[in-house]
Amino acid sequence: MATFEVESGAPLMGEATVHPAKNAVLPIITASLLTDGALHVPDMPELADVRALCELVGECGCDVRREGDGMTFQTRTPTLPSSAHAMRCTRASVLIMGPLLARLGSARVTMPGGCAIGQRPIDLHLKGMAALGAEIVNRQGFVELRGTLRGGVIYLDLPSVGATENIMMAASLADGVTRIENAAKEPEIVDLAQCLSAMGAQIQGAGTGTLVVRGVKRLHGAVYQPIPDRIEAGTLCCAAAVAGGNILLRGARPEHMRALLFKLQEAGTVISEFPGGLRVRGKAQWPMEVRTMSYPGFPTDLQAPMMVVACNTPGTSVFLETIFENRFMHIPELTRMGASIRVEDRVAVIEGGYPLQGAQVGCPDLRSGAALILAGLTAEGVTRVEDAQGHIDRGYERFDQTLSSLGARVRRLP
Ligand code: UD1
Repeated sequence: MATFEVESGAPLMGEATVHPAKNAVLPIITASLLTDGALHVPDMPELADVRALCELVGECGCDVRREGDGMTFQTRTPTLPSSAHAMRCTRASVLIMGPLLARLGSARVTMPGGCAIGQRPIDLHLKGMAALGAEIVNRQGFVELRGTLRGGVIYLDLPSVGATENIMMAASLADGVTRIENAAKEPEIVDLAQCLSAMGAQIQGAGTGTLVVRGVKRLHGAVYQPIPDRIEAGTLCCAAAVAGGNILLRGARPEHMRALLFKLQEAGTVISEFPGGLRVRGKAQWPMEVRTMSYPGFPTDLQAPMMVVACNTPGTSVFLETIFENRFMHIPELTRMGASIRVEDRVAVIEGGYPLQGAQVGCPDLRSGAALILAGLTAEGVTRVEDAQGHIDRGYERFDQTLSSLGARVRRLP
């Protein structure tokens, strides 16, 4: 669907503004199903995942309007989605479950699409809905849920981001108090809680492992601006650490990016923080050890971009992926470019510092695709990243233009 051509060039210079966070915006779009009031987001990123989810909430009765950079969502009469098509486009489609169940007393979802980075089951989402009183049946490829929700206590076996969001949304209209134990602590969870609170929800503990939601009778409309994208900002930090240079990321929130920033500093990159963003200077010079973890640990979404930094850094780096079981799909492509990487189960050992060679590579998933573009920034010759499924545009708004504005030689082939 898109091919990106990358050539090595001068160090990155200049400044870029970070877009609103994909992973914050997506649950907020589905939260609009919880009320008949209008939810307005003043600045919405232009992403294929946003378009896919807008199509899906539209099928659920939401009136979606774009006005300049912003969007307004209003669901006067919610309905169940009729087709499975829109649900297969993005993983976040499962987030209609909690809001529809809470508002309508019934919901229907299919196994969601998105990146094939692991099995990505939805058992924890369903466990949460069951604890709130939903009956769940599998029928003709759909999971159907129904019931009048009441508060409950839920322990999540894993601090799943999506399950925490879904349960928090459902619980906000349930009768009584819900407690989610081992809840996810990601900044996007806090952001969703703030958006729901602006809509009249009563939520405490967002950002900690115990989240308490006191159900209310109804929610109302609100104006809410989601946080800047820590993963887009982090990917650009990695780009600077690969290509060298001096870039300013306006809007980046260093407090959401501690794990990455510590690792980049340990590797020799210079980071300076400002109230309105952060600056990254110089190439990474030393190898690293990276273990992906739930927030505030190192984000799995930045494992692939950071591995490209390791490929460009002399010495032996070790990466351990603990969140998803199939998140090393960029490694065969990096190997085609001359990288020296050995994989044993969920551990990758990188012998860095050998020059990469430009090559024609595929785009196995969203973050891998971005990482392969970064690999092209220092590879000898031309790198072509063939993104047959349009993964990169799902999660990065005009990534080629952002990098070009910093002086990188990246272009989208017509
Ligand atoms: C979200 C992010 C994604 C990020 C991931 C982990 C969005 C739209 N996407 O995805 O970019 O990589 O968090 O930070 O916000 N799991 C189960 N059962 C469940 C749910 C999850 O076993 O019911 C497992 C998953 O397979 C995975 C782990 O839990 O191994 C974490 O998944 P989860 O936190 O739910 O990720 P997502 O919400 O899908």
